[in-house]
Amino acid sequence: MMETDLYEIDIVKAEKSKIQDVDFENINFGRVFTDHMFTCDFVDGKWQQPKIMPYQAMTIDPSARVFHYGQAVFEGMKAYKDDNGEVFLFRPEDNHSRINKSAARLAIPEFPKAYFMNGLTTLLNLDKDWVKPGVGNSLYIRPFVIATDSAIAAAPSSNYRFMIICSPAKAYYTGTVRVLIAEKYSRSADGGVGFAKAAGNYAAQFYPTSLAQKSGFQQIIWTDANSHEYLEEAGTMNIFFRINNTLITAPTSDRILDGITRKSVIQLAKDNNIDIEVRRISVSEIKEAAHNGLLKEIFGTGTAAVISPVSAFEHAGETFEIPNTDDSFASLFKKQLLEIQHNLLEDKHNWRYSVK
Ligand SMILES: Cc1ncc(COP(=O)(O)O)c(C=O)c1O
Repeated sequence: MMETDLYEIDIVKAEKSKIQDVDFENINFGRVFTDHMFTCDFVDGKWQQPKIMPYQAMTIDPSARVFHYGQAVFEGMKAYKDDNGEVFLFRPEDNHSRINKSAARLAIPEFPKAYFMNGLTTLLNLDKDWVKPGVGNSLYIRPFVIATDSAIAAAPSSNYRFMIICSPAKAYYTGTVRVLIAEKYSRSADGGVGFAKAAGNYAAQFYPTSLAQKSGFQQIIWTDANSHEYLEEAGTMNIFFRINNTLITAPTSDRILDGITRKSVIQLAKDNNIDIEVRRISVSEIKEAAHNGLLKEIFGTGTAAVISPVSAFEHAGETFEIPNTDDSFASLFKKQLLEIQHNLLEDKHNWRYSVK
């Protein structure tokens, strides 16, 4: 079969949409899914005919390697609708290259870009009524790949399934978050998989995060595994610090996810003539800045929450409250990003991708 033949997606449409049963004002994020899903299997050394079918449960052998060895990677992205009903993605090619970087690290075959983009746009066109207009509304999109070989053997699978499922979303976190700076547990290590969206990275955070939550913090800011002195990122967000009027964020590395919101915020800072430094930043530096009243803001960046302001952090038993700032960078970036995503602001860097 010619490669191009495979770009044709086999489509089975849902007989009846579930959309009328959904209360879009009170969405329980990640629990409601659209009418269709995309799937494509890797068998006999190649990706097979992609399919779109009604969203449904599937049967997988209990010995499938994903269950035993965690050979799984995923992405998180969103679709937005403007007031004329046009649907947009935000920098989707970056999600494609990132899932392939994650896949390569987990010994999973890369997924062709044409399949990814065609799968996304075809699925979104079928389920476009699920993307509600209005700033704050979006459709969360979850592409993922799992190892499906039926064999308990600690070696890479020969068979995989690539899928895309979609879930309507409103703002993910509401309000500000209190964060704990990690002193004992680590999220990632040099030479490890921290840069990848590997499923196991998230499972490994659940326990330390649940301990932090019991102490009244919503998130952990992870530090480097060697010294616990350098600030890296939060659970599903990159993290920025504003000392006086300078914005600082850690450089990406093999321990840190190369966030698409992060790099967009770095660009927006430049566009807004805000001083931005991409460099290592230490816990002592932010504690000293907080003591001197120079730590103006901390905020997380990520697709789900866009920008999530931090109201307080704790380290070594000392709590630092961060006072509200009138001219907050977090609010500026959130507004600009949401407006670009919803086609309300000029898109200078070609980040919007129209789904037609
Ligand atoms: C560990 C981690 N860091 C940062 C981010 C933010 O990345 P992005 O802005 O591409 O959503 C995410 C979410 O995808 C994440 O899981």
